[in-house]
Amino acid sequence: MVALLTKTLLVLLLLSTIHQNTGGEFEQWCVADEQTPDDELQMALDWACGRGGANCSSIQPNQPCFNPNTVKDHASFAFNNYFQSFKHQGGSCFFKGAAIITELDPSHGSCQYEFIP
Ligand SMILES: *[C@@H]1O[C@H](CO)[C@@H](O)[C@H](O)[C@H]1NC(C)=O
Repeated sequence: MVALLTKTLLVLLLLSTIHQNTGGEFEQWCVADEQTPDDELQMALDWACGRGGANCSSIQPNQPCFNPNTVKDHASFAFNNYFQSFKHQGGSCFFKGAAIITELDPSHGSCQYEFIP
């Protein structure tokens, strides 16, 4: 029983690896860097949702990405929205060093972080 389970897990692992590699390009999201202090994240967040032109409607109260209601989570959503929207027009995932690229989809529950190929 345990052996079967182990085998099944190995097959699943193998399949997911193959799936990733056939994608051709890596999917990347832009999120807040854990190292960045909240006050810097807040400034970058304000910029992204303001002049930056990110669509921050999902992090407003009663919207799917409002929770967890932290500066780090809200900044992550805004950074990613900005990056996905503008990466093909020179927009970068930088925000004065407050942001970082990840290959792990940050989506959770009904909160979807978009990825645009
Ligand atoms: C902003 O995002 C929300 C939620 O995804 C969407 O319903 C809305 O149409 C978007 N607004 C604009 C201006 O793109």
